Amino acid sequence: MDTVQDCEQLRRQARRRLPRFAFDFIDGGAGREAAMERNVRAFAAAEIVPDPLHAMRTDDIGCDLFGQHYAAPFGIAPMGGLGLLGTDADLAIARAAAACELPYVLSAAANTALEVVAEAAQRAPWMQLYCPQERAPLLALVDRARVIGCPVLMLTIDMPAVGKRLRDLRNGASVPFRWTWKTLGSAASHPRWSLGQLRNGPLRFPNLQTDEGETDIAQLMARQTGGRIDWDLIAALRDRWPGALVLKGVQCAALAARAGQLGCDGVIVSNHGGRQLDGAPAALRSVGEVAAAAGKGFVAMDSGLRNGEDLLKARLAGARLGFFGRPVAYAYAAGGEAAVTALLHDIKEEYVCARLQAGEGSPHTRILAPGANPGDSVGYGGHLPAGHERATASVVVQA
Ligand SMILES: Cc1cc2nc3c(=O)[nH]c(=O)nc-3n(C[C@H](O)[C@H](O)[C@H](O)COP(=O)(O)O)c2cc1C
Repeated sequence: MDTVQDCEQLRRQARRRLPRFAFDFIDGGAGREAAMERNVRAFAAAEIVPDPLHAMRTDDIGCDLFGQHYAAPFGIAPMGGLGLLGTDADLAIARAAAACELPYVLSAAANTALEVVAEAAQRAPWMQLYCPQERAPLLALVDRARVIGCPVLMLTIDMPAVGKRLRDLRNGASVPFRWTWKTLGSAASHPRWSLGQLRNGPLRFPNLQTDEGETDIAQLMARQTGGRIDWDLIAALRDRWPGALVLKGVQCAALAARAGQLGCDGVIVSNHGGRQLDGAPAALRSVGEVAAAAGKGFVAMDSGLRNGEDLLKARLAGARLGFFGRPVAYAYAAGGEAAVTALLHDIKEEYVCARLQAGEGSPHTRILAPGANPGDSVGYGGHLPAGHERATASVVVQA
């Protein structure tokens, strides 16, 4: 698979290749999946006022971030449990990202050990953390990340409780994965997938497991993700971790400002791709506010990006980087590492094309919220025409 046409095509291929419960695990969201749909719709509905006469260099899309150079301003969001799609999912995705010189965030709930991923990709990933009920396992993973040389720790704050994902509940898909008549029936019609899973044995979570002998994965997951995050924990992490520390799941200005005061290097605006709070606003709507409050802090976003033009919209709204989740999972399920690589190339090409058409960097180029007029002074997010004041400058930041 050399050229990927679009994310929807990959999604259809993934649906054909995976048993229903495995496809639904990546494709689904929480509740009635309203947040998930809002994310994608917000990107489709946002408009760009272009300045095609803006002079720019076409190849100038690389970025230096936290001591690393990346070929383009986008990366791969952390996704746990991808071993359910195929046995080498974490490795294949990490290798594709490294080959394309893009940031890759390894999930704490990945099915491959951090050390193995770094070795296979010949590069230390960014490391995502959940908050365990006890501090010791969290600090142990932080220390492992330090030994490996991960440039960034990404603490996910939007999972104080796991979202109610109705598709998973209906399909009987659980952590740990248990065979039921329903899942067996679905797997039987996908023998290649079933053989791979049988050969590999039960899914492991080697970044959460501190005790090799631990076999109760359900208890392990509950313990390792069910802790309460507070500002004291973030301050403690800041003290212990010498590299960059970013918070993922921020959707409000006050949190971004407080994170900056505590010495965090930045935030990822995200609603977890609509897998957590179903009432959360589309992530694209929050970026401008958060970027304004974050000041010089790093702001990136995920949730709903599906192509290179969406990446441009994310950047015009105030994000420096856009992260892709499901499109990468669909690509892996559709065609393994080659399809992920092809997808990453496509996103890059689409972004280069879109930014040329739009004139990214011009003071006249901006993103419009649905319903706004091209002449309005206020765009969707943080990128406003030169000379215009933010209408939302009065964001109140509480200490
Ligand atoms: C299958 C799957 C697993 C995920 N696992 C994690 C995880 O372990 N940690 C985390 O912070 N976010 C996780 N996420 C959320 C993503 O990091 C990201 O926020 C989201 O997928 C972005 O939205 P998008 O899928 O619309 O691109 C997961 C998402 C998916 C689809």
